[in-house]
Amino acid sequence: MLMPHQTVRQIPIAQPTVDYTPRLHVAIISDGNGRWATSKGLPRSAGHRAGAETVRRVVTAAPRMGIHTLTLFALSSANWKRPDVEVQGILRLLHEYLLTETTHCIDEGVRLSIIGRRDRLPATLRQAVADSEAATARGTRLHLRLAVDYSAREAIYHAACRFYKVTELSPESFSTVLAEVLRGGSTEVDLLIRTGGEQRLSDFLLWECAFAEFVFLQKRWPDFTAEDLEAAVMEFNRRERTRGALPDAIAG
Ligand code: FPP
Repeated sequence: MLMPHQTVRQIPIAQPTVDYTPRLHVAIISDGNGRWATSKGLPRSAGHRAGAETVRRVVTAAPRMGIHTLTLFALSSANWKRPDVEVQGILRLLHEYLLTETTHCIDEGVRLSIIGRRDRLPATLRQAVADSEAATARGTRLHLRLAVDYSAREAIYHAACRFYKVTELSPESFSTVLAEVLRGGSTEVDLLIRTGGEQRLSDFLLWECAFAEFVFLQKRWPDFTAEDLEAAVMEFNRRERTRGALPDAIAG
């Protein structure tokens, strides 16, 4: 969604086959890694590794579909309840991703941010996050936000505590405070995709998804392709978004 201070910037799209809505914020709950691995007789860690490959594919494909912000749920704060070996494995994958993909992000004009708590991440990972964010800060083609140790409720709670001291009280100024808490911004989600067959939000972007369109897919995250992303964007484009108003045809 465009905020009042934003202007539409046409993103050069290589040989477009469809007329995409420009400048979408797409958020993805990348679910199903574990079941994907188990169904193949592999350890769950193999599912997360395959999931990281999907992240690479999706990040490469997103800008040509008019996506300007892509937020991926890499690790929920609730995931600390999993065995330590699994959580540490995901954090290691994330670290590896930052080390291998930062140059690629710079080349592709991708700005990378982490949203979520940082204080529980290993110090070396925190440093890698800071380095990647600084190195990619000038990217304008795509804002890639990885939600790590993220809980929407917790972020809203912390923003509310800070907001208490803010003098200009409005939904917009609350969003500004929330963006500060998250560090990687807080922009309204246009399209939320969840893979893996479940149909819930799981404490993801509760404030930002107020008017989001949802697409739920059976497909597990490691099997998710650029074509699936494209199909979800096309489905989004077919939906009429009234935001509580009347559809154009009735409103006259
Ligand atoms: C959900 O699948 C996925 C996660 C909890 C971790 C997501 C991790 C990645 C996509 C890879 C790491 C990310 C980057 C950017 C390198 P699940 O484990 O809940 O699957 P299940 O529901 O089948 O058990």
